[in-house]
Amino acid sequence: MAARYTIDPDISRASTLPGRYYSDAEAFERGKEKYFASSWQFIGDESHVKAPGQVVPIELLPGLLDEPIVLTRDANDTLHCLSNVCTHRGMKLCEGPCNERFLRCRYHGRRFGLDGRFQSMPEFEQAVGFPSETDHLAKVPLAQWGPLLFASAKPAATFETMMGPLMKRLAWLPLNDARHDASQSREYMVRCHWSLYVDNYLEGFHIPFIHGALNDAIDYETYRTEVFDWGNLQIAEAKGATTSFDPPTSSPDHGLRISAYYYWGFPNLMLNFYPWGVSINVVRPLSIDTTKVSFIRYVWDESKLAQSAGADLDRVEREDEQVVELVQRGIHSRFYSRGRFSPTREQGPHQFHRMLAERLAD
Ligand code: FES
Ligand SMILES: [Fe+2]
Repeated sequence: MAARYTIDPDISRASTLPGRYYSDAEAFERGKEKYFASSWQFIGDESHVKAPGQVVPIELLPGLLDEPIVLTRDANDTLHCLSNVCTHRGMKLCEGPCNERFLRCRYHGRRFGLDGRFQSMPEFEQAVGFPSETDHLAKVPLAQWGPLLFASAKPAATFETMMGPLMKRLAWLPLNDARHDASQSREYMVRCHWSLYVDNYLEGFHIPFIHGALNDAIDYETYRTEVFDWGNLQIAEAKGATTSFDPPTSSPDHGLRISAYYYWGFPNLMLNFYPWGVSINVVRPLSIDTTKVSFIRYVWDESKLAQSAGADLDRVEREDEQVVELVQRGIHSRFYSRGRFSPTREQGPHQFHRMLAERLAD
C-alpha cells in the first residue's frame, strides 16, 4: 500500500511533506509518470533545427524518463517532434544530428518521411492491413515560446494552460532576441532528492541568511511570489545601483525597478529572467538522492551581464547546494517529522507540496 500524503490548502494551518517522503522509493517511482512524463520539458531552441532536412535526436529527461524523441524540419519548412522509435520492432531510429530527406531504420530498412509518415518497408507485401495508422511515427506534443522549444510525453495540460499566465505576464521581454550562450552553461550534481532542490528554489526566505551578495543586490522587503495554477513567479526588486528591468506601461510592474523574475513550472522547470537574458535551470532526478541541475543561458543584452542580480549565478548555486545537501542529511532524522510554512514567505513550497501530494493521491 502506497503511503498517502496530504497538505492542507490553508497555508496558515498546513504542515510540510513529512521527512519520509524524501526516502519513499515508491513515491519517487510513481513521480516519473505522475509528475514528469505528463509535464512540459525544455528541449532546446529553434536554432538547432533551422533549415529543412535537419534532424536532431533528443532524450527526454535522460536518467529519468529516457524517452527517445526527434526534432525534424521537413521540406515544407514545418517543424515536427516525433517518437525516435521505429514502429517495426522498436529500434532507436536516429543516433545523432544529421541532414536527411527521410528517416530510415538501419535494422530492417523501414522508411519514414520527416513528418513521421510511414513511406516504405521491404518484405511486407503480404502483410494484411499494412500499413496502418500505428505504423507512422508517433507525434510528440511540441510547443514554442520565442525561440525556446518544449515537449511533453503525455501532457496533463496544454502548454497554453500551463505557461499562458507567465507568457502574458512577461510578454514584453525581448525573448526573440535571446541567443544561446554555451560558454556560460553549467551542470551541477547535487546529492539530494530533487524535491529538496525545488523547495529551496521556491522561496526567497533564505536569501538574507544564505546569499549575502545576492541580498545586497535585491530589496528583500519587496520580494514576493505570485501563484499560478501550474507554477509561480517570484519577483525581486533592485536595491542601490544594481541594473534592473524597466517594465513598460503594459506591465503591472511599470515604474518598479525589477531585478529578476524567477518562474517555476511544475515540476522541474525554472526560468530566471534577468535584465541581460534568461537562465533556464532544468532539474533532473537521476536517483532518489542524486539530482543533476543544468543551467542553460540565453542572452539578449550582453552589456548588462556584469551588473545585475544574475551576475554570479555560480556562487548562488553553490550556496544553495550546500544547504540542500545538509537538508538531505537532516530530513531523515528520527527526530524530524514535518515542519510548518511561513504564511508570508513560503507560498511557493506550500503550492509545490500540495501539487506533489495531490498528484500522488490521484
Ligand atoms: S526495427 Fe526498424 S525496420 Fe525493423
Ligand atoms: Fe537560494
